[in-house]
Amino acid sequence: MEFFASPDRTDPKFNSFLGDACLQLSDWFATTTQRDPSPRSPQLPDISPVEEGLSSQELLDDLQLLMEGSYRPSHPGALAHLDPPPLTASIVAELISAGLNNNLLAEELSPSITRLERGLCKWFAEELLMPETSGGLAVSGGSLSNLMALLVARSKVHNKSKSDLFIMASEESHVSISRAISVMGLTPDSFCKISTDEEGKIKINSLKEKYYAMKSKGKNCFAVIATAGTTVRGAVDPLLEISDFCKSEDLWLHIDAAIGGAFALSPSTAKIVKHLSKSNSVTINPQKLLGITKTSSLLIVANKDDLYSCFSTGFPYIEPSQGELFQGGEIGLQGTRSAEVLKLWLGLRQLGRNGITFLLESALKRRSYFCEKIDSSKLEIITGPLHLIAVTPVKSKDFDSRKWAIATKNNLAENGFMLSRPCYKGVNYLKAVMGNPHTTLTHIDSLADILNNSI
Ligand SMILES: Cc1ncc(COP(=O)(O)O)c(C=O)c1O
Repeated sequence: MEFFASPDRTDPKFNSFLGDACLQLSDWFATTTQRDPSPRSPQLPDISPVEEGLSSQELLDDLQLLMEGSYRPSHPGALAHLDPPPLTASIVAELISAGLNNNLLAEELSPSITRLERGLCKWFAEELLMPETSGGLAVSGGSLSNLMALLVARSKVHNKSKSDLFIMASEESHVSISRAISVMGLTPDSFCKISTDEEGKIKINSLKEKYYAMKSKGKNCFAVIATAGTTVRGAVDPLLEISDFCKSEDLWLHIDAAIGGAFALSPSTAKIVKHLSKSNSVTINPQKLLGITKTSSLLIVANKDDLYSCFSTGFPYIEPSQGELFQGGEIGLQGTRSAEVLKLWLGLRQLGRNGITFLLESALKRRSYFCEKIDSSKLEIITGPLHLIAVTPVKSKDFDSRKWAIATKNNLAENGFMLSRPCYKGVNYLKAVMGNPHTTLTHIDSLADILNNSI
């Protein structure tokens, strides 16, 4: 049965299939700078299975067509989103993980990797300076991590009617928060959006005023969400003030550090996201800057028992975990989960402490250099302490910023740069995420020239 690798001998067909696929992928990387970051007219191979299955070579040919139409995160001009090039160790781990096909649902289906996940979450919790009782799990993306955090927070509220509950977060919090509210069966007015200051950070006084106003109407806040790295400009909310307030009112604090959390992993950048440790739960997405292949997001909670209390429903068909620890399928929304932690673990081991620091510091350096090169008499810059930066013409109030952004984005694409076009407070911006280690200062010079000459 040549569809499956032999279980009792080295399988030459599998070996050559794997080897050829690896070479093909390697060539795909090697041709990146000859192509655009994102192909404009991708072609698709046939979709449906044919009568007789295809040979390995035919499969690779189909794959090649798909690869040619794929986005190329390793292109030095690929700066639009939070999708950096993948670490080589992360790619290898992803391949091995597919081969192992273990299931994080239960320890018996992933004996070593379940332990690896627990250990890695513990390591992250320690790096974030969270308490001994902390723990967590890998989740398929930051949106799901945020949803799960809010579900846990709500599960702590007893005997309160759904219509009385509300949450608070900045108006610049990620869309996944609004989505979570809707998925949880709450109405849009149970989400109190708090306005932000000129740096994109939540206004703490507005947060307090809104909270007391809602409380006086008999409403109950079940979570405050602070953002450590907003999606458009990378702003970090005042975490200490928010956590002090949450503590004084006994409120659950979730920090969405999907973007900013990685900066806690190096002593030289940790101060930017100080006080993550004061939260009840944190979302952190190593996929967004550290080169871990998608998806890689962690939800870490200060008390790991809270995950079990919220999500456990009993597991009549699975052996209990050895050592009385919780099974992966009992502490989250997902049942079957792939071994995502493998690529996170191997990627971090490949980078080492110095590699992590290099990725973080060099991203910040590129952001600062780009800021210096932008002609501020022509372009307004919005940024924060992280590696995200967005620009728009200074006269955008009476200027058609949308028209400018579309035309300039197209011009940039002609020159091998891909930026994104967020609409921020009613104005169109072009945003660059400086997390791509292949982007050199010379590339940034060219990018800044095109932007400065677009006015
Ligand atoms: C601040 C923030 N939180 C959460 C998310 C959601 O993460 P994901 O795309 O992995 O679901 C994003 C995505 O960009 C984000 O910017």
